[in-house]
Amino acid sequence: MPAMGFREWIAAGRAIADGQLSRYGDDAHFTNSFERALSDLTGARHVLTVTSGTGALIAALAAAGIGPGDEVLVPAYTWMATPAAPVMVGAVPVLVDINETLTIDPEDIERKITPYTRAIMPVHMINAPCDMDAIMAIAKKHGLVVIEDACQSVGVTYKGRHLGAIGDLGAFSFNKMKNMNIGEGGAVLTSDDKYFARARSYHDLGAMIRGHEERYNEPEFVGVNMKVTEIQTAMLGVQLKKVQPMLERMRKRRALMAPILAQSKDFRVTPHNDEASAVSLTILAPSKEAAIALQERRGVWNRLRDSSKHVYTNWEPILAKRTFHPKMNPWAWAKREITYTPDMCARTLDILDRTCVVNLGLNYPDFMMRRVAAGIAG
Ligand SMILES: Cc1ncc(COP(=O)(O)O)c(C=O)c1O
Repeated sequence: MPAMGFREWIAAGRAIADGQLSRYGDDAHFTNSFERALSDLTGARHVLTVTSGTGALIAALAAAGIGPGDEVLVPAYTWMATPAAPVMVGAVPVLVDINETLTIDPEDIERKITPYTRAIMPVHMINAPCDMDAIMAIAKKHGLVVIEDACQSVGVTYKGRHLGAIGDLGAFSFNKMKNMNIGEGGAVLTSDDKYFARARSYHDLGAMIRGHEERYNEPEFVGVNMKVTEIQTAMLGVQLKKVQPMLERMRKRRALMAPILAQSKDFRVTPHNDEASAVSLTILAPSKEAAIALQERRGVWNRLRDSSKHVYTNWEPILAKRTFHPKMNPWAWAKREITYTPDMCARTLDILDRTCVVNLGLNYPDFMMRRVAAGIAG
């Protein structure tokens, strides 16, 4: 993530000095200008800043009118927010295997589609883009909505297009682990006017006031409050300027290390859906034991199987179909029995067992990371 420092501090101070902290005040401008800048960068016609990535996913689903009786396809490897979001709008998540790219497998998407499937939520995990060409083609064929979870890939591109702006709607997170970091925050992206009007209405209690003149003929409906403050967007404006240079450094470093790692006889470099823009670097060992052994080599980080609630077997409330109130339970409203078992996505578990993250060492010089890569390659 880009460093957080003096410029963010100054920006936050400016917002406080303005004395106008709500995005809808007369002198408010940080939120509008951040949203315009993010729209210019990504190519999404509309951007709506919200309080979290989870909120962005829920608002996107609400905007698309996903609800009770609907099934939403999500990958078995993602942060638990992805399968939780459909539950929050009354729909149910259906788990889909990943493939070696660490992203949702288009072939398994086809297998998991039922007459009740309404949406696909591809997740671009650890900056690795999904196979969006295949996913958009499947969605078109079956009339499904695509909501990209780009929370872990803000600023990353796939074949020249920004992740989050390829599907019907996209979600970004700005939490402390992400490519843009203000502690907590998120954004909904869409180029569809109606989806935008609905997301904006949902994120502000369905109010449709406060400058929401363009209603695109949408009636008011009950929503929640996910509005951000001007302090958050003042800081986001600074972070936005840092994200592309950081990703470019990552891309160059990956391009330097991946060919060295690819010479190893002990593992393969994880395949990527758009090699030219790749910024993520992971390696795939032939067995779980081999991956565990690789973790001893300098520069090899965690094994993905150990990444807590990113692995479906650790989504305890989802597997147990447990909601905050027994009668607000979307699984009871589903049109068929949905079952989850710990071994239902065995291929995902096998891939996560064998995959380790490699440190790109952005704070170190090239020669040192070349040496680290050679050491990992063995
Ligand atoms: C893939 C993915 N989706 C959604 C989220 C939710 O984002 P937030 O923490 O901003 O609610 C995260 C955050 O960790 C994530 O990694």
